[in-house]
Amino acid sequence: MAKLGVNIDHIATIRQARGVKEPDPVAAAVLAELAGAQGITVHLREDRRHIQDRDVELLRQTVQTRLNLEMALTEEMVAFALKILPDVVTLVPEGRHELTTEGGLDVNRLRTTLKQNVDLLKQAGIVVSLFVEPNLEQIKTSHKVGADYIEIHTGSYCEMRTDADRREQLRRIELAISAARKLGLGINAGHGLNYQNIAPVVALGGIEEFNIGHSIVARASLVGMERAVREMLERLKG
Ligand code: PXP
Repeated sequence: MAKLGVNIDHIATIRQARGVKEPDPVAAAVLAELAGAQGITVHLREDRRHIQDRDVELLRQTVQTRLNLEMALTEEMVAFALKILPDVVTLVPEGRHELTTEGGLDVNRLRTTLKQNVDLLKQAGIVVSLFVEPNLEQIKTSHKVGADYIEIHTGSYCEMRTDADRREQLRRIELAISAARKLGLGINAGHGLNYQNIAPVVALGGIEEFNIGHSIVARASLVGMERAVREMLERLKG
């Protein structure tokens, strides 16, 4: 069965809306793990709009499963990761004006800088994952720059409104899974997945871990974190 990494960024979004102490993403991570999540993911953005440095520092001490730090490929973030030593770093593109991560990392364009930084992170014992579109060139280059994993961006699939379009996007994801598998890359997936649209992606097989944030936090705000996580874990059984 695929694993579930719960992205708790939007617990911090609610806290930042008031500039107070609650809700604390550290508490959310504890509840998500107690409900069976196999990983906790946070995106420390350059503008610190939700997750703060303090959150990552505390999560490093409290997460019992696996801490996955999503971050942009900048000197500041690489230095931060080398200090905190999360279990996994997922490199993502970052735009200040975007509402959420738009598109995958352009691994081809960034290959030289990526290679250097992937090496640095791996030397520190961190597993490195690259968030990429289901595109064969990007996947081949991810392997060449030394990534351990790719995280397939499922956003395009999630945005499609007709069955035919969804099938086409699923086919792209399927081809990406098979290409990554042949190269020996680990395969995660995420972005835009929810309780309604995840089943066909799970059915493809081959994805080790799903990273899911918004839909779980949205449901948690109504029914509680533990129930929201358990209900997503049910969907991963396929
Ligand atoms: N994976 C990556 C690399 C992301 O940047 C995000 C959004 O922060 C997610 C997964 C989770 O996306 P969502 O919040 O839509 O589930």
